[in-house]
Amino acid sequence: MKTRSVRTPAGGVTAFGGTPRGGRVLPQDGGLPEGFRFGAATAAYQIEGAAHEDGRGESIWDRFAHTPGRVAGGDNGDVACDHYRRWRSDLDLMAALGIEAYRFSIAWPRVLPEGGGAVNPAGLRFYRRLAEGLRERGIEPIATLYHWDLPQALQVRDGWASRDTAERFAEYASVVAAELAGVVSEWVTINEPWVVAFQGHAHGTKAPGLRDWPTALRASHHVLLAHGLGTRALRAAIPDAKVGITLNLAPVHPVGSAPADRLAAERMDGHLNRWFLDPLVRGAYPEDMLELYERRCGPIDFVDDGDLALVAARTEFMGVNYYAPQRVRADASRNPLGVDQAPPGPPTTAMGWEVAPDGLRELLVRIRDDYGDIPIYITENGASYDDPPAQDGCVEDPERTAYLESHLAALRQAIADGVRVERYCVWSLLDNFEWEHGYDKRFGIVSVDYETQRRIPKRSGLWYRDYIERARDGGG
Ligand code: FCB
Repeated sequence: MKTRSVRTPAGGVTAFGGTPRGGRVLPQDGGLPEGFRFGAATAAYQIEGAAHEDGRGESIWDRFAHTPGRVAGGDNGDVACDHYRRWRSDLDLMAALGIEAYRFSIAWPRVLPEGGGAVNPAGLRFYRRLAEGLRERGIEPIATLYHWDLPQALQVRDGWASRDTAERFAEYASVVAAELAGVVSEWVTINEPWVVAFQGHAHGTKAPGLRDWPTALRASHHVLLAHGLGTRALRAAIPDAKVGITLNLAPVHPVGSAPADRLAAERMDGHLNRWFLDPLVRGAYPEDMLELYERRCGPIDFVDDGDLALVAARTEFMGVNYYAPQRVRADASRNPLGVDQAPPGPPTTAMGWEVAPDGLRELLVRIRDDYGDIPIYITENGASYDDPPAQDGCVEDPERTAYLESHLAALRQAIADGVRVERYCVWSLLDNFEWEHGYDKRFGIVSVDYETQRRIPKRSGLWYRDYIERARDGGG
């Protein structure tokens, strides 16, 4: 056990397995480490559709999206990209693009429609066939257990605000691991605990749409606990599984040099990055944030003895989703943090997110410097742009290609700086249901015509295919 208390200081513990620094295999294949894979990522609710088929239960995203006013255009994931039926041709598409790893997520309510208890065999079978289909095509499956679609039956019992949900997650992990043992060896427990906790329970912009900071803090701990319990469950079923968690991380910069803004950036960094990295890697929550949250949101009385040892259990990699850095300034009136986001400078994407490839290098080097030599999977990176209509069977999206090219260059720079990166997954394989933004925001390297469900190549997808091929030839 690494620590018993939420306040136990760090002490440089690293929870990650793997070769220690110095004993590593040097980059090959034109600057990429041996075993490195280029991938693409999606998530169940964003692409599968078939919301009512084969015994799938309701998720908090079904409920949220069907609540008027929650999602732009009144969109929902009932049909999405119809991937549940079209998965074979989608896998063929991936193979044609030379994709080497596919990060998909498993819908908890397809497997356990009530969150726990009775298993739905048809749901499990879908993921088994999908994973086998990937293997047949030489694509490494990376399965995410939780990408935000909590069974509604658990939300009725307080969802992530309840400790019991972490236990139910472990039960779910055991069921899935028993089915996929021998087919899936790379696992992400949870996607973006910050988004689950704070966008879902404090900002109210994502399901379940609550606006209460104390509840969000409680949820953040239970999600991390679920990661710990889920990791243990995965290992029990698949002893040699490679397990990690995916965090949405970003460098945080103050807008200017005013001391108040610098302190605001430190708080934002604590909120977004350190609140998750510290317990996962060092087995303790950061002292400054504990103090701030206790002052502004009430007692942290939901961390039991032994929880943090579970949270910091050994994992094989850290999943990192990177889109943009954050620029902030102090604003005491804003939220318990007293931090406001500054408008990003150009260029920005259709999401209004700053395009800053060096932020990726900066972030990766910072993780290495502050948290140790952790193997990194880039589990998401990509951009939304307002794509033009297809012409001659192709969507021309030069901005997305430029985004990917510059971020891959930054990634290679980080690798050259000694950061151990093992996977890069572009977000996303397909245009899809972009949560509260609906179908209007398109992140795919392949376009989807939602009227016909036709998949249409984008230039960026063809570029990515060629990029992977060149990297494999050792030419770039
Ligand atoms: C991430 C999510 C992913 C997608 C991208 C744009 O936060 O994990 O599902 O929505 O943002």
